[in-house]
Amino acid sequence: MSPAPGLAGGGVPAICNGSSLCQPGPSMNIPLRLTLNGQAREIALDDPRVTLLDLLRERLGLTGAKKGCDRGQCGACTVLVDGRRINACLTLAASLDGAEILTIEGLAEGDRLHPVQAAFIAHDGFQCGFCTPGQIMSAVGLIREGQAGTDPERIREGMSGNLCRCGAYAGILDAVQEASRPTGQVEQREDAA
Ligand code: FES
Ligand code: FES
Repeated sequence: MSPAPGLAGGGVPAICNGSSLCQPGPSMNIPLRLTLNGQAREIALDDPRVTLLDLLRERLGLTGAKKGCDRGQCGACTVLVDGRRINACLTLAASLDGAEILTIEGLAEGDRLHPVQAAFIAHDGFQCGFCTPGQIMSAVGLIREGQAGTDPERIREGMSGNLCRCGAYAGILDAVQEASRPTGQVEQREDAA
């Protein structure tokens, strides 16, 4: 993980006058219990500044959530925490003890894609794919919140925190609309294929 702004590599403040306050403290062990993609995990955090995104990507090997801007502006890092959409790059892992986290890696059931994943494929809701895990998790959250509906304007507004540099917005909108329909029409399409 790259050091936090203003900190040198060892966690020492970049501007330091040599006093004892400038020395790194004793190594910490912050116990963290999470339910991650349905599995109970116990993690010992050695740094309270680790974000959820860095914990997932660099320490747990879950690289689906992407680091785009690392400052809450692009949505590429979107995951669900206790069912709500959050930007993992802005969330300190240490604040999540006891939380339930769902990432793109936990969405499919075996070989069976989640309806939102299937809809993104059916409607070409991506090009390079960099933003896609965040888009999909955001759409899943939006639908679970009951905020999606099938009104294009509502969906656009609900998905406005997720940017796509490839401009695949038309396909993304179609995919979210389809996945928002109440009666499992995506599954019916798959069965008919
Ligand atoms: S990487 Fe988190 S919002 Fe861009
Ligand atoms: S598909 Fe390339 S950034 Fe969205």
